Amino acid sequence: MKNQTKLVRRAAVLGAGVMGAQIAAHLVNSGIETVLFELAAKEGDPNTMVKKAIAGLKKLKPSPLGFSQVTKLIIPANYDQHLHLLDDCDLIIEAIGERMDWKKDLYDKIENHIGENAILATNTSGGIVFVASISLTHRAI
Ligand SMILES: NC(=O)c1ccc[n+]([C@@H]2O[C@H](COP(=O)([O-])OP(=O)(O)OC[C@H]3O[C@@H](n4cnc5c(N)ncnc54)[C@H](O)[C@@H]3O)[C@@H](O)[C@H]2O)c1
Repeated sequence: MKNQTKLVRRAAVLGAGVMGAQIAAHLVNSGIETVLFELAAKEGDPNTMVKKAIAGLKKLKPSPLGFSQVTKLIIPANYDQHLHLLDDCDLIIEAIGERMDWKKDLYDKIENHIGENAILATNTSGGIVFVASISLTHRAI
């Protein structure tokens, strides 16, 4: 394993809700550094909400974490300050609420930060309808 090149060196998950936080947990369980994005808090530390979501992972039963220290591989981020962190992510998984207007707004916001060879995936339940409606020029799965 030591000399193998990882296909996904760094990942990002957009949305730190029920699905997004746990998807991030599975990625870091595999040793992949993961940037977890959430909306910025309006007051105080802008990363308050994403930090709360990361802390919440340690309380879930059964735990989605291989071991609690693995959360150190999750980088907390928000859309107001950290979109540039997407630039070198090989895999970006969108997992925000099931509202097409929210998703479209977000995809518009991130489009210029998706690397040429990055894979963009959505956790949407709306599937084909959603993928068909987005205007991204990048490859989406
Ligand atoms: N929960 C499930 O069992 C399940 C299963 C399969 C697929 N999904 C899909 O996964 C996605 C996420 O679902 P969930 O259950 O984690 O939802 P959730 O309600 O737990 O989390 C929604 C997330 O979206 C964020 N958000 C809200 N408005 C936003 C906006 N305007 N811009 C950016 N982010 C915004 C919230 O802050 C939150 O982090 C949805 O598309 C859902 O259909 C969910």
